[in-house]
Amino acid sequence: MELKHYSYSITLLLFISLIFLPSLVSSQACQRTCGNLPIKYPFGTGPGCGDPRFQKYVTCEQQKLTLTTHTGSYPITNIDYSNQVIYISDPSMSTCACSQPSKGFGLDWDAPFSFTDDNVFTLLDCSTISSPIFRSNSYNVDNSSAVPLCDKQGAPICSYLYSCRAISMLNLPISTCCVYTPVDLGPSFELNLQKLQCSSYSGFYSFSGQESNPDNWKYGISLKYKFNVYNDYPNSCADCEKSDGVCGYAGSYDSFICNCPNGLNTTSTCFFVSSFNNGLRLLPLQTGIYYTSTFFVSFFTNPSVFLMVWNLKW
Ligand SMILES: *[C@@H]1O[C@H](CO)[C@@H](O)[C@H](O)[C@H]1NC(C)=O
Ligand SMILES: *[C@@H]1O[C@H](CO)[C@@H](O)[C@H](O)[C@H]1NC(C)=O
Repeated sequence: MELKHYSYSITLLLFISLIFLPSLVSSQACQRTCGNLPIKYPFGTGPGCGDPRFQKYVTCEQQKLTLTTHTGSYPITNIDYSNQVIYISDPSMSTCACSQPSKGFGLDWDAPFSFTDDNVFTLLDCSTISSPIFRSNSYNVDNSSAVPLCDKQGAPICSYLYSCRAISMLNLPISTCCVYTPVDLGPSFELNLQKLQCSSYSGFYSFSGQESNPDNWKYGISLKYKFNVYNDYPNSCADCEKSDGVCGYAGSYDSFICNCPNGLNTTSTCFFVSSFNNGLRLLPLQTGIYYTSTFFVSFFTNPSVFLMVWNLKW
């Protein structure tokens, strides 16, 4: 009789916890991943998450992290948090495997990103007659400030790219290629192919150790980001992340909040909201869910709680 009761209660408890657990998981407004990319400060998965300066440019939609600029939307393929670099791909970019027309790429002047020194941009199929890159002496009215815009040392890169099947099929003369090397891509951070009179471009940030094998180059664009003018990781955010929280902001002053796994926001860390003794400070509904889940966890892991309940009920 008692055993029957017991197994019935266990089934009921398991059933209830199955209903409650998913709502516990999804109650954290700011997610810690987007697709398979871990999301940490300064990035966020939605409004109120991460650093407000990045919110406009980096978004997570349908589990895809995307960088948006005035030239388009670009999938973020990787984030190197220790070196503060994001890697993006440009679907309009040409690679060794695929050659296609493009309008180019540009960062917004006020975006919190800059190009890393690893980027190599190669302009393809440029007009040798009208492209300003080939008449650098007349590019600037003042001859003294005229600078070459194509790197002569980059000639091997042009040869390798033009030997790729997708590009060699177009039968372009090598003179239409340019490894583009102005500082910072000009003040507007822009690779405007229409203006430069080129029909496509290729960008990569690594030879993958094999300079002569353009099939294996890492195509895409690498961008550096900074936390703030001093570029230090905010302490409050580091503490929040250590307690399994996600850094976010709220209010009219975009002040810091720590979004905790149970959905609550604090101005410190999530340690206090997950401690049982301080649980009374929680909102009624969340307290309820919290106590229920804590009870289940202790019920299954701690025999004394189980015995206590056993003595109470039966
Ligand atoms: C916590 O903060 C996030 C991000 O600002 C917000 O979306 C969410 O509604 C807040 N949750 C609560 C319970 O205030
Ligand atoms: C610039 O250089 C060209 C050719 O070398 C010359 O004819 C022209 O006078 C120069 N212009 C200026 C402003 O120095």
